[in-house]
Amino acid sequence: MSRDGRIGVGIIGAGEIAGAHMRGYLQAAEHARVVAIADVDPARAQRFTERAGRPDIFVDYRQMIASPSVDAVDICLPHHLHKDAIVAAAEAGKHILCEKPLCLTIEEADAVTRAVTNAGVTLMCAHNQLFLPTVAAARQMVRDGRLGKVYGARTTDIFALSIDPDRLGWRARRATSGGGELIDTGYHPTYLLLHLIDSAPVKVAAVLSRHRLEILEGEDSATVLVEFANGSVGTIVTSWAYEPAGCTERFSIVGEAGSLWSDGRALHHKPRGGEQVVVQESGGETDTYAAEVVDFIACLVEGRRPINTEVEGVKVLKVILGAYASAERGEIVELKNP
Ligand SMILES: NC(=O)c1ccc[n+]([C@@H]2O[C@H](COP(=O)([O-])OP(=O)(O)OC[C@H]3O[C@@H](n4cnc5c(N)ncnc54)[C@H](O)[C@@H]3O)[C@@H](O)[C@H]2O)c1
Repeated sequence: MSRDGRIGVGIIGAGEIAGAHMRGYLQAAEHARVVAIADVDPARAQRFTERAGRPDIFVDYRQMIASPSVDAVDICLPHHLHKDAIVAAAEAGKHILCEKPLCLTIEEADAVTRAVTNAGVTLMCAHNQLFLPTVAAARQMVRDGRLGKVYGARTTDIFALSIDPDRLGWRARRATSGGGELIDTGYHPTYLLLHLIDSAPVKVAAVLSRHRLEILEGEDSATVLVEFANGSVGTIVTSWAYEPAGCTERFSIVGEAGSLWSDGRALHHKPRGGEQVVVQESGGETDTYAAEVVDFIACLVEGRRPINTEVEGVKVLKVILGAYASAERGEIVELKNP
């Protein structure tokens, strides 16, 4: 606990996304404070010291985790480093917010699950798009049966990545990213699909492509089909190669009694045979990163389960790994569910 009684948070990895998370900690300042930041490059951590209120800076995150003023860690590391940081934090009894993906393999997922369960700590997956107000509203409408039996859903996350290829760094290599675009940006429409469809994914088929970003070892685009136990079929379309066509929805869901679709800002509902209505107006842009951090802190304060813990994180990972296996083998892959 930090000296003033607030939850002490240590950020691990002071790169791009850590800056977005900082906005959340400033909003959650009544209950939490960033007391430490660890980065192998201390100059990167130093960039946040003013905004964070002069936290301690560490080069070795294991030393930071050992600090008694750190109650929770926020893991903002390259993908291949997530598992070790989660296990180290859990073994030290610290709560965890972890950026996507949770980790990279089934073996890592088992180690993460064991460590978090044995320690009894809270782990929240940083699945920020679940904090879009339209997502919560759509999920509720599905659960309330407003679409009747759900036949299918489509989720997308597509943009033309314009970053200088030399700056892609760890993202360009399979060993450090775990694949290509699908396990990175493609993680968002995957957890979104699983959140919207109220059933277990059972089969996956995928086509991966590299249209433009030759620097990547993996794909820059992916289309993934997911069959669910209740018969619903999901489609994930995701890319860094191109700008989405103007009519591309963030998500859409069709069922026997009608459909829902959203561009992420407004939510539209069309009952079967009826007129389309706006059930949620397009508000301002939601800072989903800040919202997820505020909710993480609220979960710790209230002892509440996060929307997505390691349990959902592992399910998302299994779909992604199934998609990679499908593309490699050229066949539909059955998912093993516990
Ligand atoms: N939710 C989103 O929309 C979103 C967006 C961007 C990134 N992310 C995720 O956030 C994570 C980080 O991505 P990023 O874009 O911030 O990467 P980044 O490369 O900008 O930052 C990573 C930081 O980790 C540091 N680092 C590397 N090894 C370290 C170690 N052993 N100990 C301590 N620090 C170490 C690096 O020096 C760097 O500052 C990834 O999991 C990524 O997928 C999520």
